[in-house]
Amino acid sequence: MSERKRCLSGMRPTGKLHLGHLVGALKNWKALQERYDCYFMAADWHALMSEYEHPQAIRDAVYDNVLDWLACGIDPAKSVIFRQSDVPEHAELYTILSILTPLGWVERVPTYKEQLRELEGRELATHGFLGYPILQAADILLYQAHVVPVGEDQLPHLELTREIVRRFHSLYHCELFPEPQPLLTEAPRLLGTDGRKMSKSYRNTIGLAESADEIRRHAQAMFTDPTRIKMTDPGHPETCNVCHYWKLFAPARAAAVWEECRTSTRGCAQNKRELAEVLIELTEPFRAARAEPRGRTQQELEALLQAGAERARQVAQRTLMDVKRVIGLAAPATA
Ligand code: TRP
Repeated sequence: MSERKRCLSGMRPTGKLHLGHLVGALKNWKALQERYDCYFMAADWHALMSEYEHPQAIRDAVYDNVLDWLACGIDPAKSVIFRQSDVPEHAELYTILSILTPLGWVERVPTYKEQLRELEGRELATHGFLGYPILQAADILLYQAHVVPVGEDQLPHLELTREIVRRFHSLYHCELFPEPQPLLTEAPRLLGTDGRKMSKSYRNTIGLAESADEIRRHAQAMFTDPTRIKMTDPGHPETCNVCHYWKLFAPARAAAVWEECRTSTRGCAQNKRELAEVLIELTEPFRAARAEPRGRTQQELEALLQAGAERARQVAQRTLMDVKRVIGLAAPATA
């Protein structure tokens, strides 16, 4: 095995990826490939936990998300790309971990109550949904991951994972798992096109693979500095969402844009029009990945995922065997 530390992260395939995923996760994943042995997983069981009443879209979302991972430079030659449900060891380790995790630990995870509120309209008072963070712990521990790139909202799940590790070690007198550390994505906060929190349910996201015209339409509809009524009013770029997009997606030009905005030499309409072109160029690889005839077919993606699952399983099976040995479910290793 290589000397590099291991990194695991996952996304729930519940829909198409947007600019928020690009700055919040994918850019970071791409960079991490150079320093860690990375495992990137489409967490379809986690998706099923909230979507089980209408699960039809999950399978296609896996293909769609993985296409975007590849388009942004996640490289199957460097990283293991796989689908959670193709590696049944996740479910097996989840069973064992759920047996030894006190109920109070999962009941008090703050994301649990939050999600119940946020995903209202769905029947989420299930046994599985309560176990969501335990399955996530299994995802991480199966690969004995040292680092887990996540957004801030996932920190309680990492904390729970570390608590489970300590309990496992103390129960079975072993030191099997590194305590995984979160790698907080320095995600510059990207708001939705309407200035509210970015969320698919607000329809304020810009999809990575949307057409140029759709992107122009989104940009046109963006909110700008509300105190700037006439073009001759000086703008306040620090409070303008369009200007924040400039800073994030065209940092080299942003200073000039901000200055023109302050000095009223750039109007909001022009600002949005030009931002649209920046975003269109930036998202070109995601459209190209779907263009006929060069885009990957579903069969090719499936083959790629199967190859990834095979590599993932080799590691997962070894860890699971070690787990069973320290518990005593499997016979000790023979030398
Ligand atoms: N819960 C994560 C999210 O919603 C997705 C996820 C599943 C994950 N398993 C993981 C993230 C393991 C990191 C590690 O974003």
